[in-house]
Amino acid sequence: MQTFMTVAYVVAALLFIFGIRRLRSADTARSGNSLAAIGMIIALGVTLLDQRILSYWEILIGVAIGTVIGAYTALRVQMTAMPQMVAAFNGVGGGAVAFIAIAEFYQIRTGQVAGDNTEVFFILAGILIGSISFAGSVIAYVKLEELFLSGSVTFPLQKTANAALLLAAVALGVNVLAGGAAPLASIWAIFALSLALGVLLVVPIGGADMPIVISLLNAFTGLAAAMSGFLLSNEVLIIAGALVGASGTILTRLMSSSLGRPLNKIIFASVAGASPASKQDEEEKPVNAVDAGDVATLLEFDADSVIIVPGYGLAVAQAQGLTAELAEVLESRGKVVRFAIHPVAGRMPGHMNVLLAEADIPYDKMLDLEEINADFPETDAVIVIGANDVVNPAAKDPEMDSPISGMPILDVESARNVIFIKRSLSPGFAGVDNPLFYREKTMMLFADAKQGLQDVLSSVKSM
Ligand code: TAP
Repeated sequence: MQTFMTVAYVVAALLFIFGIRRLRSADTARSGNSLAAIGMIIALGVTLLDQRILSYWEILIGVAIGTVIGAYTALRVQMTAMPQMVAAFNGVGGGAVAFIAIAEFYQIRTGQVAGDNTEVFFILAGILIGSISFAGSVIAYVKLEELFLSGSVTFPLQKTANAALLLAAVALGVNVLAGGAAPLASIWAIFALSLALGVLLVVPIGGADMPIVISLLNAFTGLAAAMSGFLLSNEVLIIAGALVGASGTILTRLMSSSLGRPLNKIIFASVAGASPASKQDEEEKPVNAVDAGDVATLLEFDADSVIIVPGYGLAVAQAQGLTAELAEVLESRGKVVRFAIHPVAGRMPGHMNVLLAEADIPYDKMLDLEEINADFPETDAVIVIGANDVVNPAAKDPEMDSPISGMPILDVESARNVIFIKRSLSPGFAGVDNPLFYREKTMMLFADAKQGLQDVLSSVKSM
């Protein structure tokens, strides 16, 4: 039986690894996801054979409840709400690890399982990291859903409070390891302190940094799960946890460098929230508001090269089909049309690629920031559809300390003409006003992305 379980765990681990590998390309991502899911089913099924598991029924009921909630949520979730879902699922994982660690501690104390200081160390680390991940993910969910605590929430001596919480948790951990007084009370106190630390670490983080934090919390949960694997002597949990921890860490690093925001700045320094453009400012500064006919005229008579920049608003309006149709019509008139994809456009990594692929736009026309940025000066017209932060030149302003400061942006301001299709002068996710709205070369088509594109398309077709 033991050999069978080991072989099955190795198969599951290989499926996870090959599954993740296939996520590297949009063509193979679906099958990669299915491979990893099969690996998880094998891992769960084989774990049921473990002699330490007493009641199969309890586990099966748990699996059934989890499957229904997971499948229902995943089928219902809007693509724009994906980060919240990842945060919620991640939090559940972190919380589970913390409770498993506490349960193990009780079992060691009552002599049900053997355990020395190595086990206790993993228990303490599991409680600390799992609880931080749980509480941090709950706060990330609440912020992203805009339930409350939106933006950066700070208070005096915040960093001192964080350091004090961490030190207190470590001191209690040392007490438990040294066989000191009140070990059970210490364990619950470490749990409570870690929850408070998770909350305090995430409340000051706002705006554009949230995706990075979710990825980091994901890595924490993976690490905590690997610790549970050591505690439960479960190889597949160690491997899966290590995979999540490592890939989460790599994703966190990639995203923080794409956003030009060092990780320590995100975690240890709350950025002064940029003051969003006030209504008064918006009314005072003149903009070049145009109608769909003006946009069509420019595209038809004055633009041989066109770059389309999709953003969050395109996803909200579900205007990907019309975007593809506009590109097709322009190409049929001899124009070169390409798509510029910013790594954090939309609300999840790869959001725009998935959206445009849904509308059958070929991958070779979707170019990353590094691939296309040098081409903007030679471009006649850029159509920015429902995007703001990813093209906001305020990110380059050394005088400003805003949530997008230092983030590399699509350099659309250097194109000959810039057309924005959005409903108003409202800023984007990071709440930073966009000076590009007020430039002479910018045309503002104030409309819902779907309606605006429909109108532009009709006008172009009628020419
Ligand atoms: P944003 O900067 O958020 O701007 C989106 C714009 O879409 C808004 O200014 C809004 O303006 C417009 N909009 C909303 N609904 C619309 C509709 N129905 N029709 C037309 N326009 C509409 O988007 P972005 O440029 O894609 O930047 C993404 C931001 O989200 C970044 O700050 C990024 O850090 C953050 N973020 C990214 C992720 C990932 S991993 N991609 C995850 C979470 C957060 P109006 O209201 O005026 O229409």
